[in-house]
Amino acid sequence: MELLKQKILSAGRPKNNNVLLVDSFINHQVDIELMQAIGQEFAHYYAEKGITRIVTVESSGIAPAAMTALALKLPLVILKKQSSRILDEDILQTTVHSFTKGTKYELTLKHEFMPKGERVLLIDDFLASGDAAVGVHTLITQAGAQLYGIGIVIEKAFQGGHERLQAMGCDVYSLARIRSMNENQIEFMDE
Ligand code: G4P
Repeated sequence: MELLKQKILSAGRPKNNNVLLVDSFINHQVDIELMQAIGQEFAHYYAEKGITRIVTVESSGIAPAAMTALALKLPLVILKKQSSRILDEDILQTTVHSFTKGTKYELTLKHEFMPKGERVLLIDDFLASGDAAVGVHTLITQAGAQLYGIGIVIEKAFQGGHERLQAMGCDVYSLARIRSMNENQIEFMDE
């Protein structure tokens, strides 16, 4: 998505070879027109795929996921990150380790918001090694639904997540795929 790539080049700040700072347009200050265009692009790609529900993980995935849900006129479910396990039969949880942030949390889904048989699209801001998306896949499968697609705003293609998620059978679509980066340069994959 050319508009997004231009924004990454003009406003993204590589902190090192692994982490791209995007707090001026995605996860602190939000460029809402860009988010709308992102939602429309995901909606266009997944329009004919029979999706019935959008999910994301709090918090930075919410803006692009909300715009996608609006464009597709589908319900949006935000998976929560809890610090500990909750014992309740309507709650599904799985532990996710964040490589980038060096933390772990309990990814949490209330069963009533994911009825059996739903065909689900996950929208998230970043894809690194794919741990969060694997956790989402686990919970949705436990709920008796199907994670059909995974739409990613910025993929760090050198961290292996894309291949891992495709191997789970998901239709992965990333709007900007970064091949490599350093403090002075960002290089995208050829599309
Ligand atoms: P993975 O799920 O693909 O394995 O990714 P990882 O655990 O490494 O990433 C965990 C968190 O770090 C996510 O945020 C993700 O958005 C963020 N992240 C990953 N790579 C980058 C990056 O290059 N730049 C920035 N700015 N963030 C990155 P989170 O913990 O879910 O928190 P939130 O920001 O959504 O609240």
